[in-house]
Amino acid sequence: MKEVKVASVLEVFDDLNELSNDVQQLMEKAIEARKQAYAPYSNFQVGAALLMENNEIVIGSNQENASYPSGLCAERTAIYYAGARFPKIRILKMAISAGSKMKLSEKPIPPCGACRQAIAEYEIKQQFPIEIYFMGETGKVAKSASLKNLLPFLFDNSVL
Ligand code: THU
Repeated sequence: MKEVKVASVLEVFDDLNELSNDVQQLMEKAIEARKQAYAPYSNFQVGAALLMENNEIVIGSNQENASYPSGLCAERTAIYYAGARFPKIRILKMAISAGSKMKLSEKPIPPCGACRQAIAEYEIKQQFPIEIYFMGETGKVAKSASLKNLLPFLFDNSVL
């Protein structure tokens, strides 16, 4: 038997102003997208914004459905649109802001497991890390330099 250990590193910033201008602007886009989310069932709104290598910004927000499992998270809405709109352009950064309409979310809220798997696919496809920044509505911002920090032992196409 041998033990396999994986270390994950996150950087945590006290607030948005500590980040570079391009990331602040990207997070502002994620916040705007969050406010437009269609989340009448959970009242939990999420916005995501992707910075593409051609400087385009692609946004997404969660889209819910009366048939609950038919809804889609903000991160996958955004990354699938980026894949469709700019199939050959690398995704450099992703900013995410999330919060409930019922209470103020003041701590960083990471993407769910299914979104991590979807983001992993694109990081592998482009063979270049995607920086991921995530926050609540206000307060600290966490940065992961690559999706790999958020999803160790991921399932990938090498086993297919
Ligand atoms: N949601 C996201 O958009 N991203 C996540 O990473 C986690 C959850 C959405 C899905 C659903 O519309 C609502 O938040 C509550 O789960």
